[in-house]
Amino acid sequence: MRIAVIGASGTMGSRIAKELQASGASVVPASTSTGVDVITREGLDARLSGVDTVVDVVNSGSFGDGDALEFFRRATRNVVEAAKAAGVKHYVALSVMGTDRLVENDYFRGKLVQENIVRSSGLPYTVVRSAQFFDLWVAS
Ligand SMILES: NC(=O)c1ccc[n+]([C@@H]2O[C@H](COP(=O)([O-])OP(=O)(O)OC[C@H]3O[C@@H](n4cnc5c(N)ncnc54)[C@H](OP(=O)(O)O)[C@@H]3O)[C@@H](O)[C@H]2O)c1
Repeated sequence: MRIAVIGASGTMGSRIAKELQASGASVVPASTSTGVDVITREGLDARLSGVDTVVDVVNSGSFGDGDALEFFRRATRNVVEAAKAAGVKHYVALSVMGTDRLVENDYFRGKLVQENIVRSSGLPYTVVRSAQFFDLWVAS
């Protein structure tokens, strides 16, 4: 099975890609450092060719007011459209526990928009709401 990890160089993506590889999946890494930009869509369609499943673990690099919301809206629309065009069979998005109760925060509004775009995409999907990990706070 070919699984694209969008955000494969990140905190979550690098660990997920490693686990998937260890379980025998063929991992297709995608992130800006591998020539894929989910905002401009540069390199995205080509990278998803022949992929069965997308694991979406991209993150907004900016947390300014409105930035994360706009990032997740554009990024998720682009990845969903590219996934549909490529015939992807399952879309997995990593979200955060409590996202629907933290809507006063721009980042979590962005995560909720991301979840809703995935849910209404028409693609079979899994939205995983995870706790945030300790090393995220150590790194910031
Ligand atoms: N970390 C946590 O504790 C945690 C917990 C629950 C949910 N999540 C969710 O998991 C996702 C990933 O979080 P993270 O902490 O792993 O993020 P991260 O470490 O900041 O990694 C972000 C990833 O997104 C990529 N990226 C950023 N902008 C991009 C763009 N325009 N086009 C393509 N790739 C782009 C980066 O690629 P380059 O490095 O190549 O630029 C990197 O691979 C987020 O949606 C977050 O809400 C995280």
